[in-house]
Amino acid sequence: MHFSNPIRSRRMTYDITLRTLLLAILACIFKVHGLSVPGPPSTPSPPSQTPITPPTLNPPSPTKVPHIIFLSADTGGGHRASALSLNASLTAHHLSTPFTSEIVNIWPGGAWPYRDLVEAYVHLSRHPRQWKFLYHLSNTTPYLAWMNADTVLRNIKRIRKMSCWTEADIIVSVHPTMTNIPQIVSRKPFYTVITDLGSCHATWFSRRCSRMFVASDKLYNKARKRGWVRTEKLVRSGLPIRPVFGEEGERMGGRYSEQGVKYRKEKKEKLGLEGDSVLFMGGGEGVGMEEYVWGVKRQMEAEGVKSQIVVVCGRNKDLHERLSNSTPPPPKRNILKRILRRPKVECEPEKGGSVEIIPLEFIDNPQEYMVACDVLVTKAGPGTIAEAASLGIPLMLTSFLPGQESGNVDIVLEASFGNFSTSVPEVSELVTNLMRDGGLRAEMSRNGEKIGDAKAGERIAEVIWEDYWKGRTGRDFGKRRRWFREAWRRMRGLEDDS
Ligand SMILES: *[C@@H]1O[C@H](CO)[C@@H](O)[C@H](O)[C@H]1NC(C)=O
Ligand SMILES: *[C@@H]1O[C@H](CO)[C@@H](O)[C@H](O)[C@H]1NC(C)=O
Repeated sequence: MHFSNPIRSRRMTYDITLRTLLLAILACIFKVHGLSVPGPPSTPSPPSQTPITPPTLNPPSPTKVPHIIFLSADTGGGHRASALSLNASLTAHHLSTPFTSEIVNIWPGGAWPYRDLVEAYVHLSRHPRQWKFLYHLSNTTPYLAWMNADTVLRNIKRIRKMSCWTEADIIVSVHPTMTNIPQIVSRKPFYTVITDLGSCHATWFSRRCSRMFVASDKLYNKARKRGWVRTEKLVRSGLPIRPVFGEEGERMGGRYSEQGVKYRKEKKEKLGLEGDSVLFMGGGEGVGMEEYVWGVKRQMEAEGVKSQIVVVCGRNKDLHERLSNSTPPPPKRNILKRILRRPKVECEPEKGGSVEIIPLEFIDNPQEYMVACDVLVTKAGPGTIAEAASLGIPLMLTSFLPGQESGNVDIVLEASFGNFSTSVPEVSELVTNLMRDGGLRAEMSRNGEKIGDAKAGERIAEVIWEDYWKGRTGRDFGKRRRWFREAWRRMRGLEDDS
């Protein structure tokens, strides 16, 4: 027998190992995010032929105090805000039981480059071109397969040791980089809440979760086609926003209803605003607004529009000071750009004038300012758009993160509840137009209220608590075979059986 020959036998072992590895890699690429086979036509799926194995049912005792962990990182304000708003909704829901909670970030102390997630985000969000390149590169199936393998291999040991997995009874992930590994290391009920609105990255779609909450039809379809998430796991819930926005919206009623007009008048008085005002919000960092502020002020003065401009500067102390003293923005540091670019006359400030600028540092009541002001100029962040829609304040979007936020702009434009432009003169003109035309504002506001939805958090809480009381985990393990069957059916152009 040739197995008795040690060299041949070793070669053979080597050969088999290599083949297995190759197969494993192929299976991994195939498994992790699917091939780019076209999705099925959007006809309702036929009743499933194979019964889905019932999830484990093991109701908890009523005296148990469950521990809920939210997986989140401070990359942008949205993830943390979503975690907090979900915490509030879970607390307030009628099915709720007293629970403990914490926010967990799995990346500090991790392998390079994952441990520098927050710094990388801050850098990339200031360099949209690099962001765009990385976003689209990492959104492809081969890169995702590689990245998933890499993150797992280099981090899973450390992450597995974290104590939170044993302490948790319910895990809620609101961050795209914290779906895959946590779903591998923990078998507890796992809920993914996608905190994007019109488009999102494919890293969200890890399919081993109990349920996945999506904000819009677009994301629902994407999760089906790109992520192959089964329909019974997908919940179209809307984007959870901070509960104060829902409460404020309820007190106001419609923005242009009788009650709304009265309520807004009181709000204006409370905040010390006079007449109509434009609100500028640039997130916690307060960057990228200055040119637009001066442009809008100049245009409104030229056309004799009476208004105020409220600017939320956040951490940007320099901006706050410059706006308070009406000093011009510092010249751009990049010399080449300065030479190549034509000087922007329109953003030079003018002292005095009839339009007053009110710079604010941090505010803890953005909902009140959104009620009191008439137009909101901001970036296309999902949370801001959803919150603005819930209060019906017309939007003027000036920028978006390529890829991730481009779908948000479409949602606003399709609903006709705002407009988008990056050019300073155009933004100035559109905002001035809006401030002059109350009818247009009212129309846009009503369009916004149509898509506004403050009940998403409540819906998510309902599903999570129901699962909890029924002891449903909804996690499926060892179901690879079903996966391959589904893949096989898809490749042959059949409906999948979920
Ligand atoms: C969730 O809400 C409760 C009650 O308001 C609060 O005590 C707790 O600190 C919150 N959890 C987190 C992680 O903020
Ligand atoms: C949006 O802006 C475009 C020009 O960029 C303009 O033609 C259009 O009328 C604007 N829409 C609204 C609703 O103001």
